[in-house]
Amino acid sequence: MPQLAAPPPIAWDGRELRLLDQTLLPAREEVLVLRDAAGVADAIRRLAVRGAPNIGVAAAYGLALAVTDDPESLESSWALLRRARPTAVNLARAVDRVRDAALAGGAAAARAEAEAIHAEEDAASDAIAAHGASLLAAVRRPLTICNTGALAAGGRGSALAVIAALPAVEQVLACETRPLLQGSRLTVYELRRLGLPHALVVDGAAPGLIRRGEIDAVVVGCDRVAANGDVANKVGTYPLALAAAAAGIPFVVAGPTSSIDAATPDGAAIPIEERDAEEVRRAGGALLTLPDTPVRNPAFDVTPAALITALVTERGVARPVDGESVAELLR
Ligand code: MRU
Repeated sequence: MPQLAAPPPIAWDGRELRLLDQTLLPAREEVLVLRDAAGVADAIRRLAVRGAPNIGVAAAYGLALAVTDDPESLESSWALLRRARPTAVNLARAVDRVRDAALAGGAAAARAEAEAIHAEEDAASDAIAAHGASLLAAVRRPLTICNTGALAAGGRGSALAVIAALPAVEQVLACETRPLLQGSRLTVYELRRLGLPHALVVDGAAPGLIRRGEIDAVVVGCDRVAANGDVANKVGTYPLALAAAAAGIPFVVAGPTSSIDAATPDGAAIPIEERDAEEVRRAGGALLTLPDTPVRNPAFDVTPAALITALVTERGVARPVDGESVAELLR
């Protein structure tokens, strides 16, 4: 399968972390060179690096940088990175792993642990793509939201890696994903490079197109899977699940088991990030409403397990998605 062109979304040489700045895509391919935890935490908050697995990888390297520079900064850097974004469990899990490694074996162990997390996410994406492609082999017209490719998930990605591995895709529909337009800016960028036929739709159009029979399956990523199988993903995912259920087409979630959180019992317990009102009031700097319009800006929503046809992970497929099948994936 073709890979995303250089520069890579995340690159590490043991001393510096290089991130392709996703806030500038697709117009400009600029690389951020980061050497401390504060810079990495800021890049995560601004979505210069984003997507559940990749914020975990970036945060892991951020903590490794911190303890390499100053072992005394372990606890403060760990706390700073851990609170950068709340919803994707990958971030907390990754920095906890690097902290444990640093406590046990110092900076060298912290760097090795961050590299291991990165390698695990890369390997997971290949397995997710293979499992998803065999589950959805007949799908020709998938629809997706947000960005779940190499920019988001290490390796080839999660949901977008599944879509790219499908044998007979005629057209991928990408939701633009307001307010930060990960679909318009990032998924289209990746689909173009992958050479996959695609079209962009406004988020509000997707449920109607599903109802009209124009979509064979909805394939999305995940930021946190609760123990009962409820899934938090980019805001706008839940309406797609409702529409898919009403139309009787599969609604499939793809993601690594590093996004499953057995300690979160259900979707209601998942912390949902609320972001700055200016992200909604403006697009590309232009004011879209009155300057002081009150805004709600939840970055994620929760889709109940009952609406999810299958959960595709690197360890296999949970179907139906429920507490038992999710626990089985973690055994
Ligand atoms: O706010 P973002 O852009 O980090 O949101 C990303 C998503 O919602 C993705 O669907 C999810 O992280 C899965 S990435 C493989």
